[in-house]
Amino acid sequence: MKKLFIVFGTRPEAIKMCPLIKELQKHPQQFKVTVCVTGQHREMLEQVLEVFDVQPDFDLGIMKQGQTLFDITSEVLQKIKPIMKEEAPDLVLVHGDTTTTFAAALSAYYLQIPVAHVEAGLRTYDIYSPFPEEFNRQAVSIVAAFNFAPTQMAKDNLLHEGKKKETIYVTGNTAIDALRYTVKKNYHSPIFDELMTWVGTNKLIVITAHRRENLGTPMYHMFKAIKRIIDQHDNLRAIYPIHLNPKVQRVAKEVFGDDDRIRLIEPLEVIDFHNLLARSYLILTDSGGIQEEAPSLGKPVLVMRTTTERPEGVKAGTLRLVGTSEATIYQNFEELLTNKQQYQAMAQAKNPYGDGHASEKIYHILAKKLLK
Ligand code: UD1
Ligand code: UDP
Repeated sequence: MKKLFIVFGTRPEAIKMCPLIKELQKHPQQFKVTVCVTGQHREMLEQVLEVFDVQPDFDLGIMKQGQTLFDITSEVLQKIKPIMKEEAPDLVLVHGDTTTTFAAALSAYYLQIPVAHVEAGLRTYDIYSPFPEEFNRQAVSIVAAFNFAPTQMAKDNLLHEGKKKETIYVTGNTAIDALRYTVKKNYHSPIFDELMTWVGTNKLIVITAHRRENLGTPMYHMFKAIKRIIDQHDNLRAIYPIHLNPKVQRVAKEVFGDDDRIRLIEPLEVIDFHNLLARSYLILTDSGGIQEEAPSLGKPVLVMRTTTERPEGVKAGTLRLVGTSEATIYQNFEELLTNKQQYQAMAQAKNPYGDGHASEKIYHILAKKLLK
């Protein structure tokens, strides 16, 4: 029996770690699974835990309004230390690139506990974009004993950096495992049905945005471009579940507030949101996870960022990197609405992120390597 200590703190980490937790919990004779959430997010994290029915063993409860990177890092380090020490796990598992991820991996390193990194090897090689995620992800790679890379491209990045090949496994992305759990042909829920009725026969545009480097002026320009297009096409309806960051809420409400073709709503439960994506015509986002989900759903995405660590989706033809300026977003959005060929070329369901069984693969690797 080996002790696994799984740490996460934000919505996207939870969505991609819960399928793995469920898988590992199927093998109580082999693994004792302890779940520790940092609470870097609160409501948006709880929504996911509820859907997957995962109950954390520890909750550091660190979130506060207007938290800085210093706050998150130092709070996680201080609060996780006694727990990790007391639990003395054989392995600490973290996911992706958040500040929770970085601080938890650093804590494990300080206590000389090996780290497994799920979703390892994604890179832009621009340390300020995405900020601070590129640094977080690279830093975790320094200490990781297991690198679960979603794709061959991610594995190649790690190899080029000199990481030992016997620490790297291509598993696919657990995001696809989550989609298998959530997306259903005849999905219904009260909120979903109400939104679909509101959309009617119009084309559904889904919007999300939250990146730190886009806060302020870039976000304002992004939203102005979207509003201009939606105001010009009466067959469009946009749904925007706004991230709970007040800095995002403020700009979204200022630009879209009085538009009756744009519904501003609270963050949706992941099951509602994934089914919403599945019914959409087009997605505009700066999110990382949505760039993985959209290719497998065959939904074109305009990625409102200047860099992406997910070039697989661009290569597959589903994602187009459009930057954050009003002019380029406007032009690309208009083009996809008027040029059927271009739209169809992007709307092909291609999934570069695995077969939806990444969690099982990770379990088998851990069983083989840890239980020798
Ligand atoms: C964090 C991650 C980012 C990830 C994103 C997913 C870092 C540095 N950033 O960014 O990589 O893409 O989560 O959403 O780790 N808030 C709430 N309730 C919630 C969640 C957030 O009120 O449930 C508000 C709080 O005011 C909080 C603010 O949002 O202070 C910002 O949250 P934070 O986790 O610091 O940054 P994100 O932009 O969410
Ligand atoms: N998502 C959700 N509800 C919403 C908006 C997004 O469940 O209202 C999901 C989305 O499907 C994806 C994840 O949240 O799985 C992305 O999270 P976010 O954009 O917060 O972070 P990022 O992926 O950029 O790190």
